[in-house]
Amino acid sequence: MTSDKQNLPRVIAVTSGKGGVGKTNIVGNMAVALSRMGKRVVIIDADVGLANIDIIFNLRPEYNIRHVINAEKTLNQVMVESDHGIKILPGGSGFADLTQLNEGEKLNLLSEFETLSDQADIIFVDTGAGISSNVLYFNSACDECIVIATREPTSITDAYAMMKVMSGEYGTKYFKLIVNMVDSEAQAKKVYAALSGALDKYLKNVVLEYAGHIPFDRQLQKAVQKRGLVMDNAQGSTAAKAMEDIAVSLGNRPVRTNSNGSLTFFMNKVFQSAT
Ligand SMILES: Nc1ncnc2c1ncn2[C@@H]1O[C@H](COP(=O)(O)OP(=O)(O)OP(=O)(O)O)[C@@H](O)[C@H]1O
Ligand SMILES: [Mg+2]
Repeated sequence: MTSDKQNLPRVIAVTSGKGGVGKTNIVGNMAVALSRMGKRVVIIDADVGLANIDIIFNLRPEYNIRHVINAEKTLNQVMVESDHGIKILPGGSGFADLTQLNEGEKLNLLSEFETLSDQADIIFVDTGAGISSNVLYFNSACDECIVIATREPTSITDAYAMMKVMSGEYGTKYFKLIVNMVDSEAQAKKVYAALSGALDKYLKNVVLEYAGHIPFDRQLQKAVQKRGLVMDNAQGSTAAKAMEDIAVSLGNRPVRTNSNGSLTFFMNKVFQSAT
């Protein structure tokens, strides 16, 4: 990390290819763990579908990014804050049509995003499923990209497809892997071996780092049913512990970044990719 980056937030995309593999829960719980470590965390909900991060934080946002684009609200008026002090930016369908923004709207969004620079240490971007252009340009704009996979073959092939498209179209080189819903570390390492084996063979310039695994845990499902986070409802559960460990090492580890870390740069890249 260079000295001029030290005070800039790290912008981390959490993505997968396949849907329903745990992205939103991993973002939410890691955000809680990092905020307990004293980090200021912002979550951008870039999922234009139905599964929203505010549900597991039991929040009901009134506004979304559309109100910022239209200059009706500031970013701070739109963001909602959890009891933990985590700020969540609801995307709604506002992120779906970034290609349609005029220059004035883009400038609005850029200057609003810049205000996040001194409010956050870590910004998570919870992307939707699939490899739509919307997901891709958010991933490409982030400093770091965490890919979530499970043992399911479709999840592994979708994770590979995501990295292939990201490296081919955007030159993204570094990815981290979290394997979710496993029974053991050995199972997770097999998933990692399958993915890194395929990368070694076909995408030699891509580096995939193993970032950890999360056990299958019914406590997490129970928490979701109550519109909550397993980290709050069952702190000692296996999934909560695993996500805490991953968050701690993520928080302490030096950053191997894909970009230069400025938020203006982040939004500019999002716009560039979207045109
Ligand atoms: N470690 C786990 N153990 C047990 N169940 C889990 C675990 N992680 C996720 N799940 C289950 O998977 C569901 C989907 O999780 P989540 O909404 O976080 O996935 P997602 O990848 O964000 O989905 P989408 O692609 O729709 O946004 C959860 O509601 C929960 O039931
Ligand atoms: Mg989700």
